[in-house]
Amino acid sequence: MQDDTPERAMLPVHVRLRDGRTVLLREIRPQDEDELRDAFHRLSADSRYARFMIPLREPPPAMLAAATRPDPEHDLALIAVSGEGGADQDIVAGARYVGASGSDTCEFAVTVVDDWQGLGLARRLMEVLIAHAAARGLRCMEGYVLAANAPMRRLAGQLGFVDRRCEDDATLWVVSLDLSRHLGHHAA
Ligand SMILES: CC(C)(COP(=O)(O)OP(=O)(O)OC[C@H]1O[C@@H](n2cnc3c(N)ncnc32)[C@H](O)[C@@H]1OP(=O)(O)O)[C@@H](O)C(=O)NCCC(=O)NCCS
Repeated sequence: MQDDTPERAMLPVHVRLRDGRTVLLREIRPQDEDELRDAFHRLSADSRYARFMIPLREPPPAMLAAATRPDPEHDLALIAVSGEGGADQDIVAGARYVGASGSDTCEFAVTVVDDWQGLGLARRLMEVLIAHAAARGLRCMEGYVLAANAPMRRLAGQLGFVDRRCEDDATLWVVSLDLSRHLGHHAA
């Protein structure tokens, strides 16, 4: 996708959350590695497990490096930053989809730091991911969600994802969205 598409052009964008706080949504950059590590440490053990599905106390350096260097041809990685551009800026959420050469399906993941959950932030990040992936011509967005992860399963349902049990793992559901229905709808 070119940089002048509506989906990329609308970033960065300030978003006002349900409690009145404001965050900046923007694409991640390699310089965000240290801040991303700090954000990881602000996640509760439950949130970490819900996202990574293994008990992870420290993010491996290779994981941070990859997370801050998405492939612009196939991926989109967004962060939400608090602090209104001041000295106290923190990454409070992240969302990405990852595509692959020759495939019209991408896989998403989204994480919101615990203090910032329940304010509509994941929904907003997902709307941007969906609009962007649809505009790029991808046909399907999928994600793996723990069966016990009620907030994510509910959010996915509200966004139009359908879910099915993962054949290989009884603790997981696969949620998938037909992106062709989203063409022409740009998350504002
Ligand atoms: C799942 C997660 C991303 C939701 O983020 P969030 O910013 O709190 O979600 P939102 O505020 O946008 O809520 C969207 C919807 O999710 C549901 N939801 C959010 N928090 C919920 C809660 N505590 N209980 C039940 N449903 C909840 C609601 O249906 C909500 O809809 P509403 O707008 O009508 O209230 C967040 O809880 C999180 O980061 N969890 C840990 C990581 C994870 O599970 N990632 C998903 C794996 S890909």
